[in-house]
Parts: sequence; structure tokens; C-alpha cells
Amino acid sequence: MDISAARREVLHLRSEIARHDNLYYREAAPEISDSEYDALARELTRLEMNFPELADADSPTRHVGSDRDARFPSLPHSRPMISLQNSYVLEDVSAFVDRVRRELGRMDIDVTVEPKIDGVALAVRYEAGRLTTALTRGDGKTGDDITNNAKAIRGVLDDLPERWRDAFPARPRSIEVRGEVYLTYSRLQALNSERERDGDDPLANPRNATAGTLKTLDVEVVASRGLEVFFYQVLSIEGETGLATHQDELAALRALNLPVNDFIRVATDGDGLADHLAELDGLRGKLDYPIDGAVLKINDLTVHDRLGATAKAPRWGLAYKFAAEEAETVLRAVTLQVGRTGVITPVAELAPVSLAGSIVARASLHNRDEMTRLDLRPGDTVRVAKGGDIIPKVLGVVIDARPDDARPVIWPDQCPACDADILREEDEAAYRCTNPACPAQVARRLGHFAGREACDIDGLGEKGVVQLLETGLVTHLPDLFHLSRDAVAALPGWGEKSADSLLQGIERAKTRPWSAKIFALGLPGVGVTTASLLARTYRNVFELRSAAQVDLIAMPGLGETTAIKNIGAFLANPRVIAMLDDLVAEGFLRDHEIVEERPSVPADSWFANKTFVLTGTLTRCSRSVAKARIESMGGKVTGSVSRRTDALVAGADPGSKLAKAQKLGVEVMDESAFLARLRDEGVDDED
Ligand code: IVH
Repeated sequence: MDISAARREVLHLRSEIARHDNLYYREAAPEISDSEYDALARELTRLEMNFPELADADSPTRHVGSDRDARFPSLPHSRPMISLQNSYVLEDVSAFVDRVRRELGRMDIDVTVEPKIDGVALAVRYEAGRLTTALTRGDGKTGDDITNNAKAIRGVLDDLPERWRDAFPARPRSIEVRGEVYLTYSRLQALNSERERDGDDPLANPRNATAGTLKTLDVEVVASRGLEVFFYQVLSIEGETGLATHQDELAALRALNLPVNDFIRVATDGDGLADHLAELDGLRGKLDYPIDGAVLKINDLTVHDRLGATAKAPRWGLAYKFAAEEAETVLRAVTLQVGRTGVITPVAELAPVSLAGSIVARASLHNRDEMTRLDLRPGDTVRVAKGGDIIPKVLGVVIDARPDDARPVIWPDQCPACDADILREEDEAAYRCTNPACPAQVARRLGHFAGREACDIDGLGEKGVVQLLETGLVTHLPDLFHLSRDAVAALPGWGEKSADSLLQGIERAKTRPWSAKIFALGLPGVGVTTASLLARTYRNVFELRSAAQVDLIAMPGLGETTAIKNIGAFLANPRVIAMLDDLVAEGFLRDHEIVEERPSVPADSWFANKTFVLTGTLTRCSRSVAKARIESMGGKVTGSVSRRTDALVAGADPGSKLAKAQKLGVEVMDESAFLARLRDEGVDDED
């Protein structure tokens, strides 16, 4: 491969990895399994090793993905919260042990083996025995402060037992414990039945449900979900803990009444290691909590520092991921689903088969390329798996079992729902139906609009949406706002009472928080988190509509693709503009929206209570974004420099404000100093 081909590939891999990081960490809606993600990362590492000039500090191979969420204040970690090196084959496990033996110059290395809980990492600090803060991993250096939510997790104690210090030889004053928060399969099932009743999409797996729950702004909701935790690590915030082994560490956690997993074993040799791994693999599917592998750790804590860490993972530990459980079944058909933004998704309709604890009858094939790559033909026997117990996936065809008359699926040129043309955008994997009035799209948009996290319109489930569309009472979204009560009441299965309650729900939608309304509009690529970010930057639809692309790109948490291709193109579409106008006319979108502020600003932020003035041209983030960021950190932005100004942020070609600031002795910072400050405070420009 020549350098320019490698550069293209590196850029492609980087943007794909960034997109999947965003889906996994921020939107809690991954599209690929961990092993597929690791394959992308491995390929990038390989290219960077072959072409070192293409590697730099910003590469995703050099840092862990970020789940930072700007709605929560952030705090630095006491020590970096890194990840673990993943492995999928037993040879990697022996290579790990051999490496440690070589480095320590000893053969007798005890290794602990424990379940790898598939949840969300949490760091909880106790000072003098009282819980003070609980942080998510965030970007590994700073985490989101979710203390209040963490208190609603079963097993996270507010107070440690009285004589807690006795558990540690070094008797530290304060400690930090780290562990994994999770949701049991039975709780998830109960939650999903409830969601189904309410017409909400089910949560794909316990990990996503956990991540989503921890980022909820309503503590009551967190408490109602029944999250639990297993702790596996103790750090002393200052000084040492005096603990000698990981086993001692676990015993200390138990002595503090903190939950610790029961299946943690110590292996003294290779056979023991293999036995314990097999034991854990066998437990999978029998436990009520999700495990996706085993974690191996060198038991002797005193050698951990010596073994050190890379930027992403410690060299004293290894994650061994279990192979996804597989099954074979028959592909009955491939159907095409039309999504809310017109994206056509091929779906494999399967003869129902039992897989990793549930019955699988359908699997998304994602896009046409994937379908073609697999060369699926109805009648084929296919292998299916649940990658990381996420969504079922078709792995491939059992070619020997292919019937003679099996024919490939023909990809249509017209939308299966409305016959409009199907087109593929340049650089996009997706094909889209080009007709925004397509009934399948409108049905999906309406369902999304009414959903709980959007407008939360009770009484408008999937069935109701179909009825409204089929009877022509609604043809596009704004029609909802002038539905006739009598016409609704006359629909089969409805009546005056349910019609009234629907109309009330629709009326109440007008008073939903602005972020919920943005989410409800269904901008492509905009989940709850991004909607909330947009809501705090653009205070109403008029501001949102005039958002410049450079502003969108510079928003923390928005990748370039989401910013330009999705949001930018959506807002520029004449039909969308007409719809937004209609929604303004109906009184749904307004001048004064209800903007939910982030819960609290970190009190120790450098920006807190300071007054800033912006001048000149900012190139990496426009003025409105700079202003939003300052405000999000508790600062204020005013128009003119005075003695009360704390700092002037000066871009290129600053005007008279710079001279005035210099005269008054006001601190002046250029754009990169400003961005560096923001980064110090944990507000990343491109994460
Ligand atoms: S020890 C330096 N032990 O898996 C990281 N992690 O893929 C030390 N995890 O970030 C982590 N179960 O969130 C450890 N028994 C366990 C675990 C565990 C789940 C998570 C954790 C970690 C991730 C790495």
C-alpha cells in the first residue's frame, strides 16, 4: 500500500472509530460488536505502525473513547481511568502471562480470574467514610459527576461501616473504589415490557440501559430502574492502601459491605487459568447479570507499578472476551424497512432460533453493502450470533446447505412503501427513499415524535399512528395539532375519553423542554444527548435554523458528519423548513422555549463567576459556541471591556477591544489559550 492510500484508509478508520465511539459512549446505541470495533482499532494500529508519519497524539489508538456528557459537571479523576487490553484467543492469554514472567524474572505468577461485567465503570470517593463523589469514566482523565444518580444504585453506600479504616494496613483517610454498574436481565425484561406498553423502543441490552440510566437527569427514574454494582478496585486518594494482593483488595471491599462478585478465583498455573476461564464461559447465560468475558489480573499488587501501563490499558491486566454464542437457522426472506429519515435497512427474517437466552427471528443487515457482502439468499442456512449479547447479527451463509434454487435478493430502485426513487448519497453506506411524505417515513417520524423521550404523548402508540395515517386524519407531523376530537373519537377502538386524552397529550407537547422538542423533530444522527447540547446552544428554532455549519462542527460532542451531513442538510431541506414553519404556526415551536440548564456548574471551574469578552475572528469555534461553552462552565460573556472584565478572548484581527483590555490590564488570551483552558476544565473541542 502506498502512503496516499494508507492516509485515506487511516482517515477513514479514524472517522469510523469516532462514529462508533459516539454511538457506544454517548448515544448508548452501538451498531457493531466489541470484537468488530477492536478489529477496526487493530487495523488502524497496524497502519500507524507501518506508516508512523500518519500517527499523532489525536489518534484513537492513543486514548480511550469518551462518554463525557456536557449536561453533567465534570471532575478530574484521582488516577486515570483506563481500559483493558482485549483478547479473544487463549494464545493471547498465555502470551500475557509469559510476558509478565519475563518482565518480573519469575515463573510463579498468580493470576486472578473474574467475570468481566458488561456494564458501565464507576469511581466512587469516600472521604472520612462518607460518599463525596461518583464519576463515570468520561475520557479517562475527567469523568462526569453523577453523584446523585450513583446514590440510587443498590450497593453504593452513603456511609462506610464505622471501623472502615481497619480494612487497610495503611489506614488511609479517604479512598476511592471502582467497579462496574449493571442491570440484571430480569430488570431489563421488566423495563422493556413497560416500554413496549408505552410504545417506546425496547432497550437493546443491559449495558445500554445502564449507560442511559446513569445519564438521566431524574434521580427518581434512576432509582426505579434497579441498577446494581460490583466493585473490584480500591485506590487511596492520598498515600497508600497497604493492600498486597488483589485478593486482599477484594476482601477489603467485602469488609466495607460493598458488593463484590462471587466468582473470583486465583490461578497459580496455566491449567488453573484455563479451568477458571472455562468455568466463567460456562456461567454465561446462567447468571442474571451480563458478563462478556473474563478479566485476568496479576494478583500481586506490589508489581503493578513496575509493570506499568500504556495510554489505554494497564500491563498487569487482560480482558479475555468470550466468543459470541452462535446458532444456525434458515433465512426465510429479506425485507426492507424504511426508517424515519428514509434510510432503507434490509432485515433478515429468520426461522425462530434460540440464542444466548432469547428467541431470535429477525436481524438487521444494516445496509445494502452488508447484504451483498454476505450474499444472502432466501432459503439459505445462515449462522447468527449475538455480538456482546447486543443485537443479533448474521455472520454468514453455510454454503454447503444452499438450495439449488436459491436466488439473490434484488435491491429495488423504488421505495417498497411509496415507490419513490431510492438514492445513495455520495460517501454514504445508506440508501434513502427520497420522498419525505412516504407513509412509512411519516409513520416512523410520528411514532418518534410521540415517544417518551420526545413529546411523551400518551395514547399515541404504533397502532394509533397507523390509524391516523390510514384514515388520512394526519398526513404530516403538523396535522397532529389540528386533529378534530370527533374524528378521532369515531375511529375504531377509540371513544370520546381516549380522544380527549390524546388531544390533551398533544397540547401538552407544546410545553415540553426544548431539548425534548429538538429530539422529537428527529434530526438524523441526533440522539437525546446531542439534542440537549443543541438546546443549550441554540435557544429556539430560529437560532437553530440560522446555526452556521462552522458552529455546529465546533460543538463539543458533534462529529463533522453529524454536523454537516445530518443536521446541516436537514435544516437546509426546503420541506423541513416548511414543516418547521408549520410547527411554529401551530404554536408547538416558540420564541421562548423551556431550556433545561445543566444541573450544576462545577464550583471549582476556572471559568466560574468570571466575566469574558470575545473579540476578533475565532477559527476553531465561532463566537456563539465559545459563549455557550463559557456559560456552561459558569462564566458570563458581555459585549464590552471594562474593569470588571476578567479576560478578553482575542481571535484573529482583534479590534479596539484588545487595546482597551491592554490599557486596563485585563488578561488577554488567544484562541488556542482559550481552548487549552477549556480542555483543562474537561470541555473537549472534538470529543
Ligand atoms: S478491572 C484499568 N475488573 O471492563 C482497568 N474491569 O474493558 C481495570 N470491567 O474499564 C479494570 N468487569 O469498566 C476490571 N472485573 C472487572 C471488570 C472490569 C468489567 C470493565 C471496566 C473496564 C472495562 C475494560
